Amino acid sequence: MTGRIIGTGSYSPELVWDNNKLAEMVETSDEWIRERTGIARRHIEKEKSASEMAVEAAKKAMESCKEIKAEDLGAIIVCSIAQEEVLPSVSCQVQAAIGATNAFCFDLKAACSGFVFAYNTCIAYMNMGLIKNALIVGVEKLSSITDWTDRSSCILFGDGAGAAVITACEEEGAMMMRCEGSRGEVLTCPAGSTLIMNGQEVFKFAVRSVPEAILEVMSQKMLAKEDVDYYILHQANKRIVESVAKRLGEPMEKFPMNIDEYGNTSSASIPLLVDELYRSGKLPQGSRLIMAGFGAGLSWGASYVTV
Ligand code: UT7
Repeated sequence: MTGRIIGTGSYSPELVWDNNKLAEMVETSDEWIRERTGIARRHIEKEKSASEMAVEAAKKAMESCKEIKAEDLGAIIVCSIAQEEVLPSVSCQVQAAIGATNAFCFDLKAACSGFVFAYNTCIAYMNMGLIKNALIVGVEKLSSITDWTDRSSCILFGDGAGAAVITACEEEGAMMMRCEGSRGEVLTCPAGSTLIMNGQEVFKFAVRSVPEAILEVMSQKMLAKEDVDYYILHQANKRIVESVAKRLGEPMEKFPMNIDEYGNTSSASIPLLVDELYRSGKLPQGSRLIMAGFGAGLSWGASYVTV
């Protein structure tokens, strides 16, 4: 069994900080950031809580979904590393806001792999016959845990939320998830503190593990390159995406990106990108995608999904 995307939504804060704004805060430049990361701007949330952002994205996803109603959702999973409240879970707040009375809800923390891990979790429940439809939301207020004096990390991150409604479909699925907890020190955020990252190590890990993850999913389902319409990668750095494309021997057109506009929004980056493609008509029915996420943990994973 695999999942089919039947609705998407996103929320992006109105406030935009371009690279020149960051150059006023730390010693950097628009040219350096664009060249080394592909980022031109990021959106920063000053008003809404993470739950409110998640609700906005979830409502839009349900509005765009013509096949099911909120009561038909069996599960809501919200992934986030940057949310304010401990309780209730963001997913329960989303449930209340959209009236998904029949869904069970929980939050999942797998950093930038969050959306892929949540999707794979939903597919597992679908395979067990527990649910037929699910809503997955990735939401991050990374600006609240960013060290705005550290130029090696603050230039990367942004805020946003993305959501997708998934329904079970009989086609055989393919997925993988891995973690290497012994290398957790590469990207940390101690309680009450800010993100501390060894960028080069994360970079090396990503360009090695992501192609392996994608190839594993393709081989599970015996997919040839021409069977995949798009590879939807976590938007961490344009050079990481380019390197993965090169290693897979695939053209850049199959690796859509929006990192220039949003920066790295962790678990929100994949659903933000999927929503952009879905709404612009670039994902007609029958499209076949491979999503891949990677980040803190270390954690990484990939999954096959249709539209
Ligand atoms: O979502 C998953 C989590 N994170 C990631 O995926 C991040 C992955 N890593 C990266 O994207 C890159 O490693 C960074 C963008 C963070 C850094 O790029 P890099 O090409 O690895 O730069 P670097 O750390 O090797 O630094 C190169 C130089 C250094 O100067 P020296 O020592 O060569 O003189 C840095 O001090 O660039 C300097 N530098 C900067 N210069 C201007 C580092 N940050 C900046 C900056 N502006 N913002």
